[in-house]
Amino acid sequence: MKFQTWLGAAETVASDCIIVGIFEKARLSPTAAHIDKACGGRLTRLLKQGEIDGKLGSTLMLHHLSGIQAERVLLVGCGDKETLSLINFRKIIETSFKAVASTAVATLHTTLTELPVTACDETQRIRHIIEVIEAGRYRFEHYRSAKKPTATLANVFCLLSNKKLLAAAQKAIATGAAIAAGARFAKDLANHPASVCTPTWMAAQAKTLGKAHNEIKVKVLDEAAMRKLGMNALLAVAQGSANPPKLVCVEYHGDKGAPIVFLGKGVTFDTGGLSLKSGEGMVGMKYDMCGAATALGVIKAAAELKLPLHLVAILALAENMPSGTAFRPEDIITSLSGQTIEVLNTDAEGRLVLCDALTYAERYKPEAVIDIATLTGAVVIALGHQASAVMSNQQALADALVSAGEKSADRVWQLPLFEEYQEQLKSPFADMSNVGGRSAGAITAGCFLARFTKKYHWAHLDVAGTAAMMMGGSERYATGRPVPVLMQFLLDKLNKK
Ligand code: BES
Ligand code: MN
Ligand code: ZN
Repeated sequence: MKFQTWLGAAETVASDCIIVGIFEKARLSPTAAHIDKACGGRLTRLLKQGEIDGKLGSTLMLHHLSGIQAERVLLVGCGDKETLSLINFRKIIETSFKAVASTAVATLHTTLTELPVTACDETQRIRHIIEVIEAGRYRFEHYRSAKKPTATLANVFCLLSNKKLLAAAQKAIATGAAIAAGARFAKDLANHPASVCTPTWMAAQAKTLGKAHNEIKVKVLDEAAMRKLGMNALLAVAQGSANPPKLVCVEYHGDKGAPIVFLGKGVTFDTGGLSLKSGEGMVGMKYDMCGAATALGVIKAAAELKLPLHLVAILALAENMPSGTAFRPEDIITSLSGQTIEVLNTDAEGRLVLCDALTYAERYKPEAVIDIATLTGAVVIALGHQASAVMSNQQALADALVSAGEKSADRVWQLPLFEEYQEQLKSPFADMSNVGGRSAGAITAGCFLARFTKKYHWAHLDVAGTAAMMMGGSERYATGRPVPVLMQFLLDKLNKK
């Protein structure tokens, strides 16, 4: 898909389709008004007749309007003109793309960039158009015998109000394309079944990514190397599986200085282990490596944009299986940090693979560590699928992530790590237990991780509700989140520099 900009009069542009917005109370966007004039008031008449109203998400495709060169004009309802949010703006992009995707349109001219989205400027709107269209086009057809035909849409032109914005627009196009590519990469990794997507396979994918960019170096620690170091918590999770664990470190050297470390939970399949999940509860657990996939997706996007930053992705990869060699409830493990953990539930495995990797991250002397994990069902109860939870030991870092979430429409909401919650993790035999009971499940998981992050600024993203939809049936897919918010976080950081 090629994305470009265009300037000029809408009535003379040669296009398969022009998309224009109309608002509630029959108000026209600037280009809609322009086209209305050029075609003798046809749009106004259609609005009067009630053929379309400005309701958010309504569409009406018009063919061969007199006085208009383009084959088609797609009217799309944009809701209330005064209160157009970024989230609704993206819904408008999505519905208009869907209305075009099933047609023969190959070249599209969109004027949605002129919609008054208060939250972002014109060039940022271009970026969102690219991200939403690319997400809408995404298919994972790897395992289908008959591939569905791809849509004919090939060229998208985004309206620009002013020549002077051209350079900024080009940059926005590159940014949007890179974020979309990073999210697509994360989705692809996650969508492969766990029989293919093993820790070893994930390590190989990381190496392939490393080969594509000079600035990326990849290091893989195998089981023996981890045993030598004393990463017993990560190893305990993996010990029931025939697929050996890996710790993968992907370093992107776009700059010198202390790195930002992205640590991803990479449980390639989570059966729960001996604390076995129900049959139903296990469906979707191939997505339990979405944190690791996100970390790789961010590195890919950052490398494509050649961001002048020092970044590290650490992937904590293991498979959680029940077997005669599996770890058990009441086992006591000594983590890499030296702290001991009594396992009360082998299904709380994410925090175990993460805690050793968090300690390992200290060696990078990081500016900050952000872990990304499909960590708890509890966070889905708390925030649903709208927002990822952030917990942090530094408020400025949490604030930056929440703010990046707003700008990227990949929302993040903070949960507290009050000291009092730590009491729920008490064990009669070890320094801590790996579960904190039913109440505040997402928070006690964060509190567990906090015990391993004393040496640096740290934020934890619980993405169990956002990285993938796992409702069973055909409603299962990886979303590519939280690649967009993390990329926004990095871009914001560069803007401040
Ligand atoms: N991978 C799951 C969390 C999860 C649940 C992700 C649903 C996506 C959808 C995690 O390893 C897990 O099993 N957590 C347990 C923790 C509990 C045993 C303390 C949970 O949430 O039930
Ligand atoms: Mn689990
Ligand atoms: Zn898990």
